[in-house]
Amino acid sequence: MGAILIKNGHVIDPANRVDARRDVLVEGGRIAAVGTGLSAPEAQVIDASGLYVFPGFVDLHVHLREPGREDEETIRTGTRAAAAGGFTSVCAMPNTTPVIDRATGINYLRSATQRDALVNVFPAAAVTVGQQGKEITEFGDLIRRGAVAFTDDGHCVADSEIMRRALEYTAMFDVPVLDHCEDPMLKRDGVIHEGRVSMMLGLRGIPAVSETVIVARDIALAEYVGGHVHIQHVSTRRSVELIREGKRRGVRVTAEVTPHHLALTEEACLTFDTNAKVAPPLRSEDDRQSLIEGLRDGTLDAIATDHAPHTDIEKDMVFTEAPFGTIGLEFAFAVCHGELVATDRMDLATLVEKMTVVPAAILRLNKGTLSVGADADITIVDLGLEKTISRGTLLSKSYNTPFLGKTLRGFPVHTLVGGRLVYSNGKIV
Ligand code: DOR
Repeated sequence: MGAILIKNGHVIDPANRVDARRDVLVEGGRIAAVGTGLSAPEAQVIDASGLYVFPGFVDLHVHLREPGREDEETIRTGTRAAAAGGFTSVCAMPNTTPVIDRATGINYLRSATQRDALVNVFPAAAVTVGQQGKEITEFGDLIRRGAVAFTDDGHCVADSEIMRRALEYTAMFDVPVLDHCEDPMLKRDGVIHEGRVSMMLGLRGIPAVSETVIVARDIALAEYVGGHVHIQHVSTRRSVELIREGKRRGVRVTAEVTPHHLALTEEACLTFDTNAKVAPPLRSEDDRQSLIEGLRDGTLDAIATDHAPHTDIEKDMVFTEAPFGTIGLEFAFAVCHGELVATDRMDLATLVEKMTVVPAAILRLNKGTLSVGADADITIVDLGLEKTISRGTLLSKSYNTPFLGKTLRGFPVHTLVGGRLVYSNGKIV
């Protein structure tokens, strides 16, 4: 693999407190040097003048749909979408068909990703067999084979005793349990946030309290048994308050928020757009403001896309029948930059931190920095680049996003994984 010299970019590497114009030299797949006036006669030069150079983004929460739902996404298409979005590492959710709940599943994913993945893929395994919520999986075996976390994502771990055991066992191995916090009894067959819009549309609501009760329970359990609970896709003000309070008490609780929950509200469902049907649902403007505030003050640690591809056929149904989920990898940075940085609510370095070193730390991954010797996972971003989100430009196999047709600004122009250029100027290399 040849050396690459990234010249004259504005480097932001939050872990090393770098926020200045620097050159980055990549050799042997690793960061060889970060400095000014670097030269390397043999190296391929990428001129990053006017561009930003960040550690590759790390996504804690991605559905690649393999095995079983290759009509929605594959490891190949999902990781191409990731590369286009500047993500160099993704954690794959286990709610596949079959569920990733045993050694054969992890082994399959590892060999399939070796063959097909364009970016690093770290598998999460299910908390319970078949995600049925009844019987815990073989945590030790799954971790030995490469699982970096446990989650029944798509479903909540509803049984409190199971959640307690999961936190106890994972604490022994120092890996997190990622919980999808929706009480199924309170959610029932709700399809949209319970509030003004659900009333107007006559759709069955999912009350905010369905999240509150599980977030409160998970924090209480993590405090009691000492495990690390990570709250997925936080959507309500009350959750933010509970997590803030839990952190203050010293509980090992971390949390993520999605670009769609940061940028959109229940109003996105007013047109019955099934692409805005997600779990947990888009909530009120007051909730959205609290998520931004929580991200700013560190209550919410990381941004994660919950990239959840579904086919046109699945989404082209009446609102009540369509599946929950939206894609997000390819424009997550643009959405967050527009919502947080362009509005002066967050500085760019903090946004980068929440998409790199912090999510990496939650999964104990040695990723998300430009430290000398680190894997050369790098994303080079043009903050001025505008794109209209459209079927013609998306690399994901599915197009289910409420941002279709919207013009956003701030996109990666080059992505490097392990020192190799994998995406450049709109194309997979
Ligand atoms: O909207 C969602 N879709 N939320 C989830 O947690 C699961 C996901 C999916 O798998 O489609």
